[in-house]
Amino acid sequence: MININVYLTHSLIQDDLILKNKTVVVIDALRATSTISTALAHGAKEIIPAESIATAVRVAKGSINSLLCGERNGKIVEGFDLGNSPLDYKEEIVKDKMIALSTTNGTLTISKCKHSKNCIIASFLNLGKVVEFIKTLNEDFIIICSGKLSQFSLEDTVCAGLLIRCLINNNSEVEYKLNDSELSALNLAEMYCLDNGKVSDSKIEEMFRISEHGKYLLENGMGDDLVFCSKVDSIPNLPMCKAGIIRLKEQFEDDTQHRAGMKKLSITTKKDKHELNQEIK
Ligand code: MLT
Repeated sequence: MININVYLTHSLIQDDLILKNKTVVVIDALRATSTISTALAHGAKEIIPAESIATAVRVAKGSINSLLCGERNGKIVEGFDLGNSPLDYKEEIVKDKMIALSTTNGTLTISKCKHSKNCIIASFLNLGKVVEFIKTLNEDFIIICSGKLSQFSLEDTVCAGLLIRCLINNNSEVEYKLNDSELSALNLAEMYCLDNGKVSDSKIEEMFRISEHGKYLLENGMGDDLVFCSKVDSIPNLPMCKAGIIRLKEQFEDDTQHRAGMKKLSITTKKDKHELNQEIK
């Protein structure tokens, strides 16, 4: 039996330590986690989620080749390089850059996961990759919906429900324990994502258009983001946050292999030097 726990807003996480050693999936479909997947897909080196604007400014100032990014009230922060529209994170702008990112809810949620064992960044754009990875872990996990200003957000909860649906449908040999929040999310996903039983991008876009934050973005000229963020599995990557740095899972693995290789090289070098010294004596 695998327990799935959905927190409908990050404010329900009163103590970050409850996430210690847990596998956590963070969702902010409009738009932080969609933006993160997009930026990494377009070659950004890494993303540093900042809890505040001041922290983002300090992180960006302390790094070369960085971009200062983020929003408040959905709009770019004055003096920042980019806001939080995934459409702005074009390859020619973000490639090889370190991105300091501060958003109203999404990066705050990610910052709460510093004690987690796995912090996985999810949106509709990379849902299939997230489900695939969760399946391999085969353990209890938590989904945190960023929400909006500590309130319930339809789009994040529907995304959580679709993740649960995809997992259950692709893992029939496993039994999942769902309580009220998880069952509600699952039913909302079936209501708002399916057309004749199949996942539909246009149904998801429609849901965005009736959601509180989706309507706000529409009213402020950011309707294109709703279309972009509704495309299920259009960016099949797996961003993860480790020690306060967001990269693709394989980038962390490459680093680990690189460090192991360097360590082996240094041991070999020391051994060679020792043998060489012995020969010289
Ligand atoms: C958030 O992080 O709260 C949202 O992504 C806000 C936004 O980008 O509109």
